[in-house]
Amino acid sequence: MLKTAITDLLNIEYPIVGGAMMFLSRARLVAAISEAGAVGVLASAIYKNREEFRDELKKIKDLTDKPVAVNLCLFPMIRPIDNQDYLDILLEEGIPIVETSGHELPEDLVNNIKSSGVKWMHKSAAIRHAQRAERMGADALTVVGYENGGATGKYDITTMVLVPATKEAVNVPVIGGGGVVDGRGLAALLALGADGVIFASRLVLAEECEIHENVRKKLCEASIYDTTLVMRSIGATHRAFKNEAALKVHEMDEKGGNLEEMLPLIVGAQSEKVYFDGETDVGMNYISQGVGLMNEVKPAAEIIHDMVEQAEGIFKNFSS
Ligand SMILES: Cc1cc2nc3c(=O)[nH]c(=O)nc-3n(C[C@H](O)[C@H](O)[C@H](O)COP(=O)(O)O)c2cc1C
Repeated sequence: MLKTAITDLLNIEYPIVGGAMMFLSRARLVAAISEAGAVGVLASAIYKNREEFRDELKKIKDLTDKPVAVNLCLFPMIRPIDNQDYLDILLEEGIPIVETSGHELPEDLVNNIKSSGVKWMHKSAAIRHAQRAERMGADALTVVGYENGGATGKYDITTMVLVPATKEAVNVPVIGGGGVVDGRGLAALLALGADGVIFASRLVLAEECEIHENVRKKLCEASIYDTTLVMRSIGATHRAFKNEAALKVHEMDEKGGNLEEMLPLIVGAQSEKVYFDGETDVGMNYISQGVGLMNEVKPAAEIIHDMVEQAEGIFKNFSS
């Protein structure tokens, strides 16, 4: 029932993308999402060298033969990244879908993606970035609204408004997200005109997402009021769980911001301590406002199948 331009384009069962998550979207989770009929997106920026990245792609291929995607991060990074290197390897390993995200769209890289024949999705939080990617030949455009976990963009446009506005502004299929955690969100975004839905925060509580029990407990107990925006003052607004580190960074933003002062709290190594050592207050724990609607750890397949079933039920109720 939920067949759309995105299921056709990406050759997947459901119009659902399991969004890339730095440090968390590794082989086991990505493969489980794809195996369930959606498409998992590996976060390439996790891998510090060619060998580690290639090994992870091989692990995915051992776990599923369904389509998977790889995210190439175009945001400015503290550790410089050679996306061309990642692209070469993912093409050699036969990955069929590339997602780029960020403000910059380097022409060389885009030309190489386009000429390789893989499907290209570009993700942003603003219509003008989506339009630019469309002009450069993107096959699908992903937009995420203010509720979103991770980068929210600088305009604070909600998912409710951003998705239909983007649909009106472009001619290729649109994937919408930000705040989607279940079938109600999936049905709502399809009703807004999206051809597909991206969600990620809900998948932090997938069994295959190997985070510390302390973090799981915090997220299961959280309410919709437990997130805050951080890093606005340095032009990189993100939504994160309201822990001690995020509150300190938010306060620094309010005072005008200073990258040097923030750095010890926002570096990836601190997030890794949160996720994997269970030191829940020491770094950024990016999460959606939807955290208040998720309270159970389940296998990714169950999360996705429940979501589809709930959305189909909603459409059925309306049509009867
Ligand atoms: C913990 C976490 C880490 C993320 N890391 C990345 C990333 O490295 N690259 C990226 O493009 N998006 C990243 N995102 C954004 C997701 O891919 C996705 O677009 C977004 O989370 C969807 O909104 P939702 O969290 O409300 O479901 C991250 C999101 C979360 C929650």
